[in-house]
Amino acid sequence: MTDHDELDAILQGHAGREGALLPILHDVQAAFGHVSEDSVRRIAQVLNLTRAEVHGVVSFYHDFRDEPDARPVVKLCRAESCQARGVEALAAALPENPRVNVETVYCLGLCSVGPAAMVGHEVYGRLDAARLGALVESLA
Ligand code: FES
Repeated sequence: MTDHDELDAILQGHAGREGALLPILHDVQAAFGHVSEDSVRRIAQVLNLTRAEVHGVVSFYHDFRDEPDARPVVKLCRAESCQARGVEALAAALPENPRVNVETVYCLGLCSVGPAAMVGHEVYGRLDAARLGALVESLA
C-alpha cells in the first residue's frame, strides 16, 4: 500500500462524519509520523476546506508535526500493567532530553516484566529510572 493509498483509506474511514478534521489529522500523524504538505492538500480537498484552514489546525496543536521527527525514539509503554508497575513515576522522573523523542505506546507484550520500552526493534523490561535514563542517554 502506498502512502497515497493509505491516506485515502484514512479519509474514507472518516467520510461523511461531522468534525472529521481532527480525527483524520490524528490518524495521518500516527500513520506517517507527520502531516505532509501533500496530506494537507488532499485533506483540504476532501473536506472542502482551504489548505490554510487545515494548516492552521496542524500548526495549532502540538500533537501534529509538519515534517518527520528525525530524533531517535524511545517508546515507553503506559498501558495498564506497566502503570501498575510504576511507569508513570518512571516517566515523571525521566530528565528532559531534547535530542530524544519519548513516545507513549500501549503494550509491548512484556506486561509481566514491565515497565517496558522499545528502542528500534529491541524491547526492554524491568526498567527503573536508572536503566531508562541510560537507554535515553545512549541515543542522545
Ligand atoms: S502493559 Fe506494558 S508491556 Fe503490556
